Amino acid sequence: MLMKKFAKTDIKISQLGFGCWGIGKTMWIGADDAESKKTLHRAIEEGINFFDTALVYGNGHSETLVGEAEKESGKKLFIASKVPPKNMIWPAPDNAKLKETFPKNYIIKRTEQSLRNLNRDYIDLMQFHVWNDKWTHEDDWKEAVLKLKKDGKVKFWGISINDHQPENGIEAGKTGLIDSYQVIFNIFDQKPAEQLFPFCKKNNISIIIRVPFDEGALTGNIGPGTDFPMGDFRNNYFRGNRKTEVKLRVDNIWNDVKKETGSMSEAALRYIISFDAVTSVIPGMRKEKNLLANIASISKGPLSSELLKEMKTHKWNKNFYE
Ligand SMILES: NC(=O)c1ccc[n+]([C@@H]2O[C@H](COP(=O)([O-])OP(=O)(O)OC[C@H]3O[C@@H](n4cnc5c(N)ncnc54)[C@H](OP(=O)(O)O)[C@@H]3O)[C@@H](O)[C@H]2O)c1
Repeated sequence: MLMKKFAKTDIKISQLGFGCWGIGKTMWIGADDAESKKTLHRAIEEGINFFDTALVYGNGHSETLVGEAEKESGKKLFIASKVPPKNMIWPAPDNAKLKETFPKNYIIKRTEQSLRNLNRDYIDLMQFHVWNDKWTHEDDWKEAVLKLKKDGKVKFWGISINDHQPENGIEAGKTGLIDSYQVIFNIFDQKPAEQLFPFCKKNNISIIIRVPFDEGALTGNIGPGTDFPMGDFRNNYFRGNRKTEVKLRVDNIWNDVKKETGSMSEAALRYIISFDAVTSVIPGMRKEKNLLANIASISKGPLSSELLKEMKTHKWNKNFYE
């Protein structure tokens, strides 16, 4: 497993990280705890040390599973979690006030809750689960960040950038308090490469890539006949004629990538690691089979520069979360 330096530190995190939303069992329906634990343990055995969870993923359930897996493995992991917005609105609306979203004492209380779920004394990386750069020059979030660092409860701080708004976080990065961004970047949404990546390279801020498969679209497994379990958020994400549209676009991508890659999911991950600014990519993985496929894909390294150029034609400006 290739390990990459985290932010300005000498700490190394795995280039393939583990996205822990699905194993939390809310919004994603169908995870089985025994299978999730088996997959977490196999990931640790394979050298993955970076796990991305959040308090809201199953109201602490995902954090609990990750904390248990760490203790059982006897290994020290680099665990990232997230403070949910107090108003529970995703993403942060443009007119949202910091006081309603991340007041100081609320940030501290939620972090302590995450620590209990993880059964740990500290969290390696705590991220704001939404962000609005208009809050950059307010004090509440900065005071909470500094206090939790001073108390040894959080080592590093990051922002999980709002869906498809990759520049909405750059101002906060200029304060020097932010060590990493988590952002959507994949063959469809290529925008982070324009401004966010160069900013991070220059300032030694780590980039964590979420939703590498566009919630499954870029695995090639979603088409007009795909059904999701009742209550699964993807019924809404892929509503109407979106599954048909996705299938058409993914078939076009496959026509380009098949000369160099063995599967659509391989192409999707290798596209992402072709960008040097990327520290870690965190696909959601409830099943061991998918974990092993992704480890094999990552080990093949970046795409050729010719294929990368061709990928530019597959940009798709959309927001299925709305
Ligand atoms: N606002 C935020 O901060 C935010 C929002 C979204 C996501 N995230 C983070 O980013 C992570 C990744 O995003 P995501 O899980 O939403 O979406 P994703 O990684 O784009 O897609 C996950 C889906 O891909 C499937 N999959 C994984 N590897 C595969 C393979 N090799 N072949 C076929 N299918 C494969 C998974 O199946 P199985 O699960 O069945 O294995 C799951 O259905 C999350 O888990 C979470 O940690 C953060």
